[in-house]
Parts: sequence; C-alpha cells; structure tokens
Amino acid sequence: MPLSNSPSTTSSSSSSSTKSWIIRGLAAGAAAAMALGAHAYLLSRRSAKFRSRVVGIIPARFASSRFPGKPLANILGRPMIQRTWERAKMATSLDHVVVATDDDKIAECCIGFGADVVMTSESCRNGTERCNEAFQKLGKQYDVVVNIQGDEPLIEPEIIDGIVKALQAAPDAVFSTAVTSLKPEDGFDPNRVKCVVDNHGYAIYFSRGLIPFNKSGKVNPRFPYLLHLGIQSYDSMFLKIYPELPPTPLQLEEDLEQLKVLENGYKMKVIKVDHESHGVDVPDDVEKIEQYMRQRNLH
Ligand SMILES: *[C@@H]1O[C@H](CO)[C@@H](O)[C@H](O)[C@H]1NC(C)=O
Ligand SMILES: *[C@@H]1O[C@H](CO)[C@@H](O)[C@H](O)[C@H]1NC(C)=O
Repeated sequence: MPLSNSPSTTSSSSSSSTKSWIIRGLAAGAAAAMALGAHAYLLSRRSAKFRSRVVGIIPARFASSRFPGKPLANILGRPMIQRTWERAKMATSLDHVVVATDDDKIAECCIGFGADVVMTSESCRNGTERCNEAFQKLGKQYDVVVNIQGDEPLIEPEIIDGIVKALQAAPDAVFSTAVTSLKPEDGFDPNRVKCVVDNHGYAIYFSRGLIPFNKSGKVNPRFPYLLHLGIQSYDSMFLKIYPELPPTPLQLEEDLEQLKVLENGYKMKVIKVDHESHGVDVPDDVEKIEQYMRQRNLH
C-alpha cells in the first residue's frame, strides 16, 4: 500500500496549521504539567514516555441497519475492514492493532488476513463500548486507546499518529480527535458534525448545526469552519469511566457522544488535518469510494 497516496500533506497551508496547533499543544501541555506539580512534569519529561503504550482498536459489527455486513464489503478486491486495518498498521505510534467484533464471519475474515481479533459481546451499544470491552479483554497495560472507525478505509496513518501525539503532548486532556476543513455545501448537513476550538486547540463544542453561526444566516465563505472526523483516542484510565458517565443534556440533544466528555469538564485536544472523508455508511458509498480510488490510482 503506497504511502504517497495519502492526501494529508498535500496542502502546505493546512499542514502548517496542523503543525502550529501541535506545537502550541506541546507548550500548553507543558504548562499544564507544571500546574500539576514539578514532580509529575519532571517525571513525564525525564522518561519522555508519557502515555507511551498505545493500542489501536477497530470496532466492527455485522449488524447495521443501513448496511448489514458492512465491514466485509468488497472495495476494489479487498474487504473494507482489511483496508482499514492495513492503514492502521502503518501508523508508527501504535504498538498493537486489534479488530473488536461480535461476529464470527468478521473474525474469521480478519484472522485470515493476519489481524488480531478480540471477540466482544453483542450487547455493546456503540463503538466506544465495544472498544472499552475489547480493551478490558486484552488485559494488557496500555496508556492510550485509539478508536479507529472501520468505515473509513482510506484513513491516513498520519492522522492516527497525529491524535496520539496530541494526547501524549497534552497531559491535561483525556481525549483527542481530528477535524478538517468543512466544505461549504456541508454547512447545514446535520450528519456533518462541526467543531469549534480554543486558541490552544482544545475543543469548545461540537454541533450538528453550523457553528459559529453568522448573523447573515448563511455559510460565510471566509470563515474556516471545522468538520469533525470520527477517529478518537482516549487516555485508558478515562476510557474505563467514560461509559459509566451518565448521559448529559447537550449530548442527548445533539445526539453526539463526545459532548459528554466536555459537559463533564474534561479537556479534549483537537488536531487539524487535511483529509477528504470517504466514510462508507450505505451500500451506494462503496461505488463512490471505488470511483475515487480508481481516479487516483489507489489499489
Ligand atoms: C458574516 O458573513 C459575511 C459574509 O457572508 C461577512 O461579510 C461578515 O463579516 C460575517 N460576519 C458578520 C459578523 O456579519
Ligand atoms: C455509547 O456509549 C457511551 C459510552 O459507552 C454511552 O454513554 C452512550 O449512551 C452510548 N450511546 C448510545 C447512542 O448508545
């Protein structure tokens, strides 16, 4: 799989803004560590290994109301779950990559192409719960868990590494995720989640509505709106309490799980990347992504 097909570094303006966020994140992280006490700060500096053990988990369930058996969908000759796994394996920040599934066919397929699989129960309500169960079942010590959505087969390994590094560099955050530029035509699409961040790259809010909202009532062509990408990483201690936190009002109203993190006062680090999202949600999306890959000669 060629690395060069990754579009994540194509635009210099956007990648330099990514860099400045990460660097500012580092500074903020150091300041926060100081606030926690010189001891903790020195400890994390000396070993330079803060949150160093990282596992990537790809949750994959068979049942999907809109696309049953989605992880096994054939995309230019390979199952979608294999494509996602291959991308994840290229991320240098991950010590281990596993697929978490409740389905024997998916497990068999994944073992067939060489993946490690953790069987999870069918009762997991969503990807976060599946990740958490898989993490508990792994029974190994990891500091960071990356939740890699199986329906983004073109996820760039650089994005995975980016959110891991962001979390490692921000001891005051328990969660990290990625955003990219929002296309103006997606401004009012409630399935495209928007995000606003503070000066240091910490999330302020996520919404299905357009945020910020210009008083003209339209998308302002000059404003750099941000689109949330589904990938996220968590501090593993936080992952243990996350599913137990009761639902919060904003989370319920927007139907956005990540708002629970913010509403409970936890900090979330956000990196900006250049990424064209090619999520596969319905069977028709397979054709679209194949066409995109053919045009760019991706295999
Ligand atoms: C709103 O958007 C328009 C362009 O559509 C822009 O000229 C204006 O500066 C924006 N902000 C405010 C406060 O109107
Ligand atoms: C998803 O999981 C989280 C955390 O495990 C839980 O709090 C939340 O209510 C779940 N969301 C849905 C839609 O089931």
